[in-house]
Amino acid sequence: MSKEKLKILFAAAEVVPFAKTGGLADVSGALPKALKELGHEIIVVMPRYYKIDRRKLKKLEAPLGVPMGIMGELWAGVYMSSLPQSDVPIYFIDYEEYFGRHGLYEDENDGYSDNDNRFVFFSKAALQLCKMLQFTPDIIHANDWHTAAMPLLSQTRFKHDFAHAASVLTIHNLQHQGNFYKGIMDVLEVGWEHFNPHEFESFDRVNLLKGAIEQADAVTTVSKKYAEEIQTQEFGFGLEHHIQAHAEKLFGILNGVDYEEWNPSLDKFLAQKYDFDDMAGKLECKRDMQKHFNLEMRDDVPLIGFVGRFAEQKGIGLIAGIIDNILDLDVQIIMLGTGEKWAESFFSNVAKKRENFALHVGYSDALAHKIEAGSDMFLMPSLFEPCGLNQIYSLRYGTLPIVRAAGGLDDTIVNFDEAHEHGNGFKFYEASQEAFYYTVLWAVNIYTHDKESFEKMQLLAMQQHFSWSDAAKSYEEVYQYALSKKRI
Ligand code: ADP
Ligand code: GLC
Repeated sequence: MSKEKLKILFAAAEVVPFAKTGGLADVSGALPKALKELGHEIIVVMPRYYKIDRRKLKKLEAPLGVPMGIMGELWAGVYMSSLPQSDVPIYFIDYEEYFGRHGLYEDENDGYSDNDNRFVFFSKAALQLCKMLQFTPDIIHANDWHTAAMPLLSQTRFKHDFAHAASVLTIHNLQHQGNFYKGIMDVLEVGWEHFNPHEFESFDRVNLLKGAIEQADAVTTVSKKYAEEIQTQEFGFGLEHHIQAHAEKLFGILNGVDYEEWNPSLDKFLAQKYDFDDMAGKLECKRDMQKHFNLEMRDDVPLIGFVGRFAEQKGIGLIAGIIDNILDLDVQIIMLGTGEKWAESFFSNVAKKRENFALHVGYSDALAHKIEAGSDMFLMPSLFEPCGLNQIYSLRYGTLPIVRAAGGLDDTIVNFDEAHEHGNGFKFYEASQEAFYYTVLWAVNIYTHDKESFEKMQLLAMQQHFSWSDAAKSYEEVYQYALSKKRI
């Protein structure tokens, strides 16, 4: 493999620990560090949202002019810091009118009506910033629809400075495509000739992700299985044919885990730390959760956890459909999540009625860690799941995942095989309440009646390693592929 040292611009709408709604932030906080460790020079760029305290950042003197087509030029501030435990610089684009809001993309589940302007502005600002820093990237790495305009911008409006840069688009979630009124073309300034059915145009609207799938030199997604799935009608969200047409430049690279952050032997949030060679702390964490959630204090009852966005994707409909049947078993369930209002009120009602169920509606890093550690099993019945991080975190905490075999869940979870006492979790295939229920029942039975197998699986799971360093090497190969296409 080439040892060429690359200059990489990595742009994302959310980055841990600065702003997060989901796994995109975990990836954006970890992958750049792993790429840096391989010897590349990388800068990360994200918006400066209201909740990111400017006082903790360094301000760059010069303001940044961002050309916005018919809207004229807008002026942004730029702040900087570095990713924790690293010297990877991260820059924040500060523009109060667009990003000085409580939400990242929405308030109360309603997407902001100017999300098109907000993220086209951000994409352009990230490129302008490179010019200001005199950082000439070899690779422009865009993530999801928010930065999907960058590949084409770099070859049109910004061609003068980026003509030699290759672009890579990572799809973390195909459901969200950046679908907007076509007038945004006049702000994009890439030329209306790109408003055609092979690029941005979709039902007379602009689809940013669709355009980028055509325009990027390489496209990646976050597991091998999802790379296959998005070429089918079931998972393609209308873009399956478009993706099939570009399949030769599509790569599936599984996300890794930041084991400094998600590690029961280091985790500062836990009631007691533990590891596979000393599991006593896990029981303390379970008791801590039972106490916190006001559940009956019992060591022998299986405690099942859920952490995630209350979104259809996560299978919350399936959970809602069978929750009463599961709660009729001798189990306890704890859930942490926020999102769709129907789900928040539905599960709140369940919590009022059932004493073996508890819920925290909201977002809490500390609780997410505590639930991972304190639970015996973890629910992830997703309808689709590009990668999924929580099931991989669960493995490290010895909390056996119960998952639907979709995308990254299928790639990471090996179904328990009773005959050979092998596996790291419990899987079902059909997205039906029956399949889900019987899999939970099965897992609960193994927990209750075959402790030996259960514990063996836990120990195996805890010793698995999903490394960012391996993933970064795969991205390195994709970068080389993208560059080689560019240089032909
Ligand atoms: P997605 O990105 O689709 O939401 P992932 O499994 O990749 O799914 O990542 C979700 C991330 O967000 C995990 O780090 C998880 O712990 C975190 N998370 C989701 N919901 C919450 C919440 N309510 N409180 C704290 N962390 C959450
Ligand atoms: C998306 C996906 C999730 C994935 C994450 C990080 O939000 O829904 O499956 O793990 O991005 O790539």
